[in-house]
Amino acid sequence: MKIVIDEIHDINVMVCKEITKLVNNTPDAVLGLATGSTPLGVYQNLIDDYKENKTDYSGVKTFNLDEYVGLDIDHEQSYHTYMRKNLFDHINIDLNNTFFPSLENPSAYSELIKEHNIDLQILGVGSNGHIGFNEPYTSFDQETSYVTLAESTINDNKRFFNSIDDVPKGAITMGLKDIMSAKRIILIAFGKNKAQAIKQLINGVEDEAWPVTILKRHPYVTVYLDKDAASLLE
Ligand code: F6R
Repeated sequence: MKIVIDEIHDINVMVCKEITKLVNNTPDAVLGLATGSTPLGVYQNLIDDYKENKTDYSGVKTFNLDEYVGLDIDHEQSYHTYMRKNLFDHINIDLNNTFFPSLENPSAYSELIKEHNIDLQILGVGSNGHIGFNEPYTSFDQETSYVTLAESTINDNKRFFNSIDDVPKGAITMGLKDIMSAKRIILIAFGKNKAQAIKQLINGVEDEAWPVTILKRHPYVTVYLDKDAASLLE
């Protein structure tokens, strides 16, 4: 596992460059994408790069990690809306090539991922160590499924909603097994509230109580941290 500790601005630029390099070299690249606050700076850099360099996404396919259950896909806080607003509407990607898990057929999403083989998966991490919405004690063999969100996740995400009661209680998420099938993984973590999860990942052992620790098994992971997220590392 490669670990990079740097300023948020520089990490956003570095991850953006990793993505554009892949897309330039592999016009039909398959990207795994995350939502939440962490990747917003990377997406903004991708939009700026597109304006400047016209990086071509017409052959690119994307697989998002997750979507809330109980919100219409056009809801302002749905992850479909997030991706359109923060990336897809600003680059030349074909929306038919952008995929999200759905409640109707979770296992079909795992099958689609197997068929397409994700070249690069971008991940954030929850304060409780979740990746995607795979909450603590999810089996490391889990494929795409419906999940009940942990209390801590509902609390973490209430900042995006008017009140905590508006935060959906469930989601559909790419499974840990699907995430691990990606050829390469970049995990980004900013802020003190991620420091414990990052310590478990880097100084701890594989442990289903901390889903992020499954990444210890992956041969090609880069972890980008700001100083706060790295603050508990030994
Ligand atoms: C989002 C996702 C989640 C987030 C995590 C961190 O698609 O899968 O695992 O990456 O909850 O969220 P932020 O970035 O908002 O701190």
